[in-house]
Amino acid sequence: MTELPDLFAEQAPSSPQKKRSSKASVPVESKVLELIDAFQPSDCLAEAARPFFVSTNGALFDGDCLAILPLVKSDSIDTVFADPPFNLDKKYGAKSKDNLPEQQYVSWCKAWLDECIRVLKPGGSLFLYNLPRWNIVLGAYLIEKGLTFRHDITVDVKSTMPIAGRLYPSHYSLLYFSKGKPKTFRKIRTPIEVCRHCGGDVKDYGGHRHAMNPLGVNLRDVWTDIPPVRHWKFKSKDRPANALSTKLLDRVIEISTMVGDVVLDPFGGSGTTFSVCEKKNRYWIGVELDFAQQIKERLQDNEIAHHNNTDFIEG
Ligand SMILES: C[S@@+](CC[C@H](N)C(=O)[O-])C[C@H]1O[C@@H](n2cnc3c(N)ncnc32)[C@H](O)[C@@H]1O
Repeated sequence: MTELPDLFAEQAPSSPQKKRSSKASVPVESKVLELIDAFQPSDCLAEAARPFFVSTNGALFDGDCLAILPLVKSDSIDTVFADPPFNLDKKYGAKSKDNLPEQQYVSWCKAWLDECIRVLKPGGSLFLYNLPRWNIVLGAYLIEKGLTFRHDITVDVKSTMPIAGRLYPSHYSLLYFSKGKPKTFRKIRTPIEVCRHCGGDVKDYGGHRHAMNPLGVNLRDVWTDIPPVRHWKFKSKDRPANALSTKLLDRVIEISTMVGDVVLDPFGGSGTTFSVCEKKNRYWIGVELDFAQQIKERLQDNEIAHHNNTDFIEG
């Protein structure tokens, strides 16, 4: 269990409520609850920087991440997850621009990435979800900025349309970097793959099937099991634009954080990251330019359905 960090640059005097005992006799579960109850980011913010919505675990800002991120204290966040607009001329909300000239888009990404790097704790993780086209450039930038490359995870998504004269685009890139040596990397196993019709094994594992760990195989860097978010129960009715599966966020959060850690998502969208954090007892800081109200309502009404996740967390 980690101590709850002071997250914001502008701090009010510390409240006695936030002081936590480190007595060994306190059961782990109640220590978790104590931590969760202690998260009151509105106490830590100047008037002008009040979050739009505060839950037990998190704080949501209604605005531009470039304006909000500077309010977050340096070296305070355990994991950043960013799923920005992909510059595909998609219609998000009125304020969002998704059709910038190429260089402008890359410069914009670099500006908020700089802030994400600054707020990450040493050993913290940064995940960047984007088209391979942009992640090639942005990944090179993150290396230039001194982050440690961990993985370029391929997320197999079959919902895109074929493009004339090109290969059929069928994956997104999820870059995984850390700020120095990762402080948290938890081992995940996924179930041994079986045929969904006959239930038999899909591979023969070179004749070593009997020796396989029954809890599953090591998570690979190609994720073919992330369901598309199609059904309304997983989507916001008031925000028809893209939403990620909770399964993807489940994984990112389980790999890189412990209970009580803090996750930051500068592009809240429909609130997927925050809903997963709520469920998994992680704190969160979120920003969203156009749909903060929708996120607030969805979190308050517990409206975000979660995809089933059969991952086994070993570490
Ligand atoms: C690809 S979506 C994120 C989807 C999200 N991961 C989910 O699962 O719902 C990108 C979001 O970023 C928001 N956005 C665009 N520009 C922004 C900015 N400058 N600051 C904060 N949010 C922004 C858009 O309104 C959009 O909802």
